[in-house]
Amino acid sequence: MLANRRIVLGVTGGIAAYKAVLLCRMLVDAGAHVIPVMTESAQRFVGRATFDALASEPTRTSIFDDPDPIPHTTLGQTADLIVVAPATARCIGSYANGISDDLLTATLIATKAPVVVCPAMHTEMWEHPAVQDNLATLKKRGVHLVAPDEGRLAGGDSGAGRLAAPEAIYETIEAVLSDGDFQGRTVVVTAGGTREAIDPVRYVGNRSTGKQGYAVAEAARARGAHVTLISTVSAEAPSGVEIVRVESAAQMHAAVLERSDADVIVMTAAVADFRPVGVAESKIKKDAGPPKLELEPTPDILAELGAEKKPGQVIVGFAAETEDLVSHAQSKLERKNVDVIVANDVSAPQVGFAHDTNEVTIFVSDGCQRHVSLRSKRQIAEEVLNTVAQILVG
Ligand code: C5P
Repeated sequence: MLANRRIVLGVTGGIAAYKAVLLCRMLVDAGAHVIPVMTESAQRFVGRATFDALASEPTRTSIFDDPDPIPHTTLGQTADLIVVAPATARCIGSYANGISDDLLTATLIATKAPVVVCPAMHTEMWEHPAVQDNLATLKKRGVHLVAPDEGRLAGGDSGAGRLAAPEAIYETIEAVLSDGDFQGRTVVVTAGGTREAIDPVRYVGNRSTGKQGYAVAEAARARGAHVTLISTVSAEAPSGVEIVRVESAAQMHAAVLERSDADVIVMTAAVADFRPVGVAESKIKKDAGPPKLELEPTPDILAELGAEKKPGQVIVGFAAETEDLVSHAQSKLERKNVDVIVANDVSAPQVGFAHDTNEVTIFVSDGCQRHVSLRSKRQIAEEVLNTVAQILVG
């Protein structure tokens, strides 16, 4: 999604300027072409050399000391996106009022590219009606805002106005650049581990927390899809996502098959492969000694979807493996007749169940495979959806 996209990274003078360094690195790592533009006061917080070293081009700081006689129009015309992080009250005020008092505001006024503004300032400034009015003006004009968090501010103060996390800013940039590529598509996502009842209080389960499935649902929604999330976990649904709560593989099977005409089905859930034969009607008593658990296979939802795949439909399976990742994933792709298998080695550090990060290899039925190094589950979700989007457009 971000590969080769030209992103102007505007950095203004706040203590949060150091977080723009991390954002710069994340964007460059994702393949974006990043051009930093720093204001005079930003350079009092972070040296331009830091951005020079990390970005794709040397840092720009002034309209007049630039080899290009009109750097603001060149930057504005060629950018795919401009992000300002952190954005001070002064920068927001100038931009909202069309005042080009430095290279950054001149570039913002000279562009037709989407703009993402990430305010950061002390709570008093953030709450001032002048700042809020300026932000409302920008919003009305289609500028994307990443609201600040609450938390520690400069000088030991605490409150609203702290720059949003670089990850949140990155996700907004991805969503904006994806330009609603799932608009009008129906996407079904499953999440969490199923619970297979032994008796009314006990079950056989697994370690899945549903985080990756929720991230896929959220990302698909942000890209314009109508999303149904079939979940075994109690976490709240991402905004705008329809949720269907299930517990067992049988319930998930029924819920997915009811919606099997969706354009895209992403089986992120860790569905149990086996379940106890019959469920004891009342709690099994300890005194009777350990019960013998007889197990039977559950319906393989993914294989069933693959066997009855609709024309143009894209089906994605996940494969959590602890060994022979590549051969297992490839054989799953063929055996289950699906379009994509996202394989992760759940024994690796920071990967898979319960973590906020994941590292995967995406296998596509045309033989292509792509490794996606360790990153947030939301970023992994975006990469999976990028693959799906490519298949959908043929
Ligand atoms: O073959 P394996 O069970 O490892 O494949 C994992 C993939 O298959 C996941 O996408 C999971 O959601 C799906 N699955 C399923 N029904 C099952 C077991 C797994 O749809 N009974």
